[in-house]
Amino acid sequence: MAMERLVLLIFLCYLSPRFAADAYDPVDPLGNITIIWDFLGIDTTSTVMVSIHNYQLYRHIERPGWRLGWTWAGHEIIGDVTGAETTEQGNCSGVHFDPRKPPHCCDKRPVMVDLPPGVPYDKQVANCCRGGVLSSLTQSNSTATAAFQMYVNNFERDGGNADGVPVKPTNFSIGVPGYTCSNATQVPATRSKVGPQRHVQVLLTWQITCSYSQFRDGPSPSCCVSLSSFYNNTIVGCPQCSCGCPRSPSAPQCLSDDEQSKIQALRDGDGDDPPAPVIRCTEHMCPIRVHWHVKQNYREYWRVKASITNYDVVSNYSDWNLVVRHPNLGNLTQLFSFNYQPLIQYGTINDTAMFWGIVNYNDMLLQDGNVQSEMILKKDPSEFTFSGGWAFPRRVYFNGHECAMPSPDQYPSLPNAAWDVRVSAVQRWLVTGSCLLLLSMFLVV
Ligand SMILES: *[C@@H]1O[C@H](CO)[C@@H](O)[C@H](O)[C@H]1NC(C)=O
Ligand SMILES: *[C@@H]1O[C@H](CO)[C@@H](O)[C@H](O)[C@H]1NC(C)=O
Ligand SMILES: *[C@@H]1O[C@H](CO)[C@@H](O)[C@H](O)[C@H]1NC(C)=O
Ligand SMILES: *[C@@H]1O[C@H](CO)[C@@H](O)[C@H](O)[C@H]1NC(C)=O
Ligand SMILES: *[C@@H]1O[C@H](CO)[C@@H](O)[C@H](O)[C@H]1NC(C)=O
Ligand SMILES: *[C@@H]1O[C@H](CO)[C@@H](O)[C@H](O)[C@H]1NC(C)=O
Ligand SMILES: *[C@@H]1O[C@H](CO)[C@@H](O)[C@H](O)[C@H]1NC(C)=O
Ligand SMILES: *[C@@H]1O[C@H](CO)[C@@H](O)[C@H](O)[C@H]1NC(C)=O
Ligand SMILES: *[C@@H]1O[C@H](CO)[C@@H](O)[C@H](O)[C@H]1NC(C)=O
Repeated sequence: MAMERLVLLIFLCYLSPRFAADAYDPVDPLGNITIIWDFLGIDTTSTVMVSIHNYQLYRHIERPGWRLGWTWAGHEIIGDVTGAETTEQGNCSGVHFDPRKPPHCCDKRPVMVDLPPGVPYDKQVANCCRGGVLSSLTQSNSTATAAFQMYVNNFERDGGNADGVPVKPTNFSIGVPGYTCSNATQVPATRSKVGPQRHVQVLLTWQITCSYSQFRDGPSPSCCVSLSSFYNNTIVGCPQCSCGCPRSPSAPQCLSDDEQSKIQALRDGDGDDPPAPVIRCTEHMCPIRVHWHVKQNYREYWRVKASITNYDVVSNYSDWNLVVRHPNLGNLTQLFSFNYQPLIQYGTINDTAMFWGIVNYNDMLLQDGNVQSEMILKKDPSEFTFSGGWAFPRRVYFNGHECAMPSPDQYPSLPNAAWDVRVSAVQRWLVTGSCLLLLSMFLVV
C-alpha cells in the first residue's frame, strides 16, 4: 500500500496547478519566435528584409495568421513592400511623394500581414505568401519561416544618427494571443539568402524575440481530456464547463443536435473569411476533446487508443498536433496512423511525445470529425502499474494549448481491493501542500 501512496503522491505533484505563470515552457524551454530585420541598404531609403522564424517545437501560428506591428521611433514611412502588405495606408498628406507612386504606409504604427498563397510572382519574396501561417519546427521546418522586403523612407527622420543608421522602432507585436515581444537588439550582421543561388551582404541586423505564455493567452482552456480503460466500464468525461458553461451568458455560441439546418446554413455561408467557430453544445463546451483509452494488457506491453474529436461544426484544423506527457512514452514501441517525435530528452527524462497527422490521410481534423490512433508501450517493470491512475496522461496539449483534465479522484480505478484509497478533496489539498513543501525544501537546499 505504501508503494501505491508514493505513486499517488508523485502523480498528484505532476497534476497540481502550475506553480509559475511566466513564459517558461518545460516541454519546449528554448521555444520562441525570432524576428530579424536585415538592412540590405541604408540611405534615405533603406531596404530591409524582415524574416519571422518559428523556433517552437510544437506551437504553430494558425489562420488568421501573424500580424506584425511596431511603432516607428521617428517619421519613417514605408515606401513599398513585397511579400506582405500593411492593413492601413494611414495619413500620407504631410509627406512629399511622387504622385504617380504614393507611399505604401505612413502610419506611426504599421501592421504588416502576409499575402495569401498564389499572388503574382512579382509581389513575392522567398518564404512569403502563406496567409500568415507558420508551421511548428517539428512538423515542417521549411514552412516555419516567413519573410517580406520593405523600403523605408526616413528622409524626415529626427533622431537618426550621422551615419544614416535608423533608430530602432519599439513596441513590437506579432498579433497572436499569448505572445509578447522584446525590444530590438543589434546583433552581428551576416549574409542573407535572397534567391535560390544568391546571398547578399547585410549591413545591419536587428533581432526581436517573441515568447508564448499560456497565462497571457487567457485562463480558459480550449480542449479537454476524457478517460476510459478496459478494467473499468466507467467513462470519465471531460470536466463539466471545462471551456465554458452551456447556456451561461459568457459561453461560446453552440448548437444542439436538432439544429442541423442552421449548421448547414453556417457551412454554406460566405466562403472567403475563415468562419467564426460554432461548436456543438456539450457539458464541457470545448471545441476539441482528446480521449485516452487504456485498451489492452499484454505480458510485456500495453496498448492505448487515443482519439481527438472536433466539436466545431464549421472549422477544420489543418496540421493539428497533440503533445502528451506520460512516463512510459519513452518506451513507445509501435504507433499506428500518426506521426510521432519525442520532445524532451534530457538524461533519463523522456516522457513527452508529440503526435501529428499523416499528410493527405489525417493531417486535417475535419469539422465535426475525429482522428485516432493506437500505440503499444513496453512496460518498465520498475514503475508500470494500472493502479492509482498511472496509465493516464499527466498533461495533454492540443495545438499548443493545455487541455483541462478530469480530477484524479474520478479516474477509472481497478476493481476491488487493489487500490482502495478514496482521495477526498481535502486529501488532495494536503498532498499539493506537501508537494509545495518538498519543492520549497529543494529550493532552500
Ligand atoms: C530562440 O530560439 C533559438 C533557436 O532555438 C535559440 O537559439 C535562442 O536562444 C532562443 N532565444 C531565446 C531568447 O530564448
Ligand atoms: C493628416 O495629417 C495632416 C498633417 O500631417 C493633418 O493636417 C490632417 O488633419 C490629417 N488628416 C487626418 C484625416 O487625420
Ligand atoms: C529540417 O528538416 C530536415 C529533414 O527533416 C533536416 O534535414 C534539416 O536539417 C532541418 N533543418 C533545420 C534548420 O532544422
Ligand atoms: C503598443 O502596441 C499595442 C498593440 O500591440 C498598442 O495598443 C499600443 O498603443 C502601443 N503603444 C504605443 C506606445 O505605441
Ligand atoms: C523597450 O524599450 C522602451 C524604451 O526604449 C522601454 O520603455 C520598454 O520597457 C522596453 N521593453 C522591453 C520589453 O524591454
Ligand atoms: C473543411 O473540410 C471539408 C472537407 O474537405 C470541406 O468541405 C470544408 O469546406 C472545409 N471547411 C472549411 C471551413 O475550410
Ligand atoms: C525516447 O523515446 C523514444 C521512443 O521510444 C526513443 O526513440 C528515443 O530514442 C528515446 N530517447 C532517449 C534519449 O532515450
Ligand atoms: C524504457 O526507456 C528508458 C529510457 O527512456 C530506458 O532506460 C528503459 O530501459 C526502457 N525500458 C524498457 C523496459 O525498455
Ligand atoms: C470504476 O472507477 C470508478 C471511478 O474511480 C469507481 O467509482 C468504480 O467503483 C470503478 N468500478 C469498478 C467496477 O471497480
